[in-house]
Amino acid sequence: MTAAEIHLKKKLDERKSSGAYRTLKPESALIDFCSNDYLGFARSAILKHLIDQEVQNHPHSLNGSTGSRLLSGNLQYAEDLEKIIAAHHQYPAGLLFNSGYDANLGLLSSLAQRGDTIILDELIHASAIDGARLSYANRYSFKHNDIESLEAKLKLAKGNCYVVVESIYSMDGDTPPLLDILNITEKYGAHLIVDEAHAVGLHPLGLVTELGLSNRVFASLVTFGKALGGHGAIMLGSDILRQYLTNFARSFIYTTSASFHQLASIKMAYRLLNSAEEEIISLKNNIKLFKEQIKQESTYPLLNSDSSIQCIVFRNNDKAREIANILQNKGFDVRAIVSPTVAVGTERIRICLHSFNTASDINKLATIINQFINA
Ligand SMILES: Cc1ncc(COP(=O)(O)O)c(C=O)c1O
Repeated sequence: MTAAEIHLKKKLDERKSSGAYRTLKPESALIDFCSNDYLGFARSAILKHLIDQEVQNHPHSLNGSTGSRLLSGNLQYAEDLEKIIAAHHQYPAGLLFNSGYDANLGLLSSLAQRGDTIILDELIHASAIDGARLSYANRYSFKHNDIESLEAKLKLAKGNCYVVVESIYSMDGDTPPLLDILNITEKYGAHLIVDEAHAVGLHPLGLVTELGLSNRVFASLVTFGKALGGHGAIMLGSDILRQYLTNFARSFIYTTSASFHQLASIKMAYRLLNSAEEEIISLKNNIKLFKEQIKQESTYPLLNSDSSIQCIVFRNNDKAREIANILQNKGFDVRAIVSPTVAVGTERIRICLHSFNTASDINKLATIINQFINA
């Protein structure tokens, strides 16, 4: 082994001994309580048909985009799609990115300059943390959903200040007091950025727009890889923000753009979202049913969430993995979320509910989980 490989192996061994070693697993035939396909769009035959038709209606479309948007890879179709999506979410403009990760990275790394400030909720997604790290701005995190903690950090802020939160947190499934956060952010002349990755779907317009706040929120991220069943993302904001990102967001500039097929998939997913009332009602019913079925217990608490993401905290990697393995052996695809993805002591199983889960499967799953909670 080379010196570098010895170092890599040591780091991997450390991961193994802390129970945090990760491996890739192929797709399974288990019942899906794990994916982000909240409304079943990724498996929708209707969506597949809509996409096929849209591609057929554009017989001259290319297989690949051939370049970055600023060189050969721009399509009028992409620009029109950005307008359609921005209008759907009631924002003036939007810029497509190849993923939500790229969008957060591009926005946060380019927006704040040396002397500016980025304030992040402590549970913010890794993509926002990485974007903030790549910028030269001062960085602070505040206690999860805690207005006083946020205000303390706002008082320290210098230069232009950006506050970054999620509207539904990916690992806890909870929602912040968005209006309070916006009010305090505005009180200090700062700008709010909201990551709506897990909200769009259950909330077809996103929570920001549903609450009538889109004209006060500086930028919102919508991703297409979750409830929309595809891949990619859009950063929504003003037209000036769109122009700025086109010029300065490196994860937008230095990458090959999405293919026509991918753009068509996104456009058709929005078409389906506009008539997805039934799926949204089923999802809401399934969330309600699961919460009614799970016993609330303080040793292994069910986190407070009204979203598709429901977590039971088992407090260590091994225990969370053990429960997830048992559930998988019983036919349910439930995954453990272990540290370092979540903080040490908050390791959990995360149950993602979908419109297509049956009441019978939810009842069976809850019965098994309850046995462990009571054990
Ligand atoms: C809150 C949040 N933001 C951003 C992302 C990144 O989105 P994408 O998967 O499109 O890269 C994710 C995905 O895990 C997420 O959960």
